[in-house]
Formats: sequence, structure tokens, C-alpha cells
Amino acid sequence: MTVAFLDPGQTYNDLRDELDAAYHHVMASGVYILGGAVASFEDKYAKYCQADHCVGVASGLDALMLTLRAIDICPGDEVIVPSHTFIATWLAVSQAGATPIAAEVNAATFNICPERIEAAITPKTRAIIPVHLYGQPADLDPIIAIAKRYNLYVIEDAAQAHGAQYKGKRIGSHGDAATWSFYPGKNLGAYGDGGAITTNSKKLAERLRVLRNYGSREKYIHDEQGFNSRLDPLQAAFLEV
Ligand SMILES: Cc1ncc(COP(=O)(O)O)c(C=O)c1O
Repeated sequence: MTVAFLDPGQTYNDLRDELDAAYHHVMASGVYILGGAVASFEDKYAKYCQADHCVGVASGLDALMLTLRAIDICPGDEVIVPSHTFIATWLAVSQAGATPIAAEVNAATFNICPERIEAAITPKTRAIIPVHLYGQPADLDPIIAIAKRYNLYVIEDAAQAHGAQYKGKRIGSHGDAATWSFYPGKNLGAYGDGGAITTNSKKLAERLRVLRNYGSREKYIHDEQGFNSRLDPLQAAFLEV
């Protein structure tokens, strides 16, 4: 099965039977936190994004903030963000305790200008967050080349870019990670809040699974200060429909 998208104009009524079945499946399972519905959606969404791993979280903002924490961004660090984006891109950096540094966007694409990124780099810079704004991918190749040169992470804010492609490959694993929002108005919207991270890094995915779940690998054993930020199983089941 593949992840399907609503055609423009389609409504809840068009998918009512499938959505109702998904609802009953989760309700009857008795598993209301994580479990099979979340794992199943994660698996399918990772494949859809041509990425090795997907970790479902509570929102697109949390997806960004948790990824920054998973790569150990901390106070004193700087993260380069586009001057023009939704507030969540900047807020995630502040929530991780770091400082967002703006790089100007290209007037033709509204996406971060690779040439402006290099000028914003300082010894404190740890990561770049290109945003694929309005569904249009940022120009990733030069951004990734700069990141390699300066040993920086590239976290793609893909909240608005479900299904978008860059040079023939889906958005989802070009950089170190891509972060997603399933806010109802998005290209792939849930019936409430939701988010995810896709990545090819097993290590990063494993850390994110711990961070989203109270810093816990094993029930009641908490290895680090984590968060409660899990994709809801009902939303996961609806997203799969
Ligand atoms: C570019 C961008 N980044 C991040 C987010 C945050 O997503 P969420 O609302 O699910 O927290 C959004 C959407 O609202 C967005 O448009």
C-alpha cells in the first residue's frame, strides 16, 4: 500500500468508509499510544519519502525541535534559517536553546539563498535549516556542499513539501533529516496535529524515538531528559488512509 493524497476538493465524506474503518481498528486494538498504527504509518511514509526511517511526533514544530536536540544543538550554538518562513522554523531553534541566524531568501523562489548562507556562518554555526516553502524544494545541492565544507548538519523543514521532488528524488533524505507537519491544512493533513522526521540515519532515528518518549528506551527507565511528543495512533491511521 502507498500513502495516498486527497485530491483537491475531496472531503471527509469521500473517504468516510476507510476513515471509519481506521478509527474502529485503532479503538478496538486498545493501543492508544504509539503501537502498530504509528509503526505502520511510519514505515509507509518512510518508503514514500525514499528514506530509511520515519519517526512520528506530535507536530511539525516538535519534529524540528527534537531533531535539533537529537544532534545535540545547545545554548551557544547558531543555526542558519531562512529570513522568510513560518515562525516554527525559528522557534524550534530557540526552543533548543540555540540562536537562529537569518539568511536572506531568493526573491524568485522565496527559498533560502545558498550564497547568503556562507556569509552567515560563524565558528558557532552547527546547522542549516532550508525550508521547502510553498511546496517548492530549496536548492539543496549547493546547501549540502556548503554544509560539508563547514561540517554542519542540514535539517530540511519539509512541513509544506509532502511529495515534492528535488532533482528526481523525493524530499525526505537529501540532508541529514527532513521534518514534516501533518497539520490539517498541509498537503498530507491529519484530523488534528501531527508531525514526523524522515532520515537515512539509524542512529538519529533511534535517538528521536527515545527523545519523543520521555527519554525512555525501556518502560520506566529514563536515560535522558526527553519529551512527550508522540504521533497519535488515530492520526497515524487516518494519515495512512
Ligand atoms: C514551514 C513550516 N515549518 C514548520 C511548521 C510547523 O508545523 P506544525 O504546525 O505542525 O507545528 C509549519 C506549519 O505550520 C510550516 O509551515
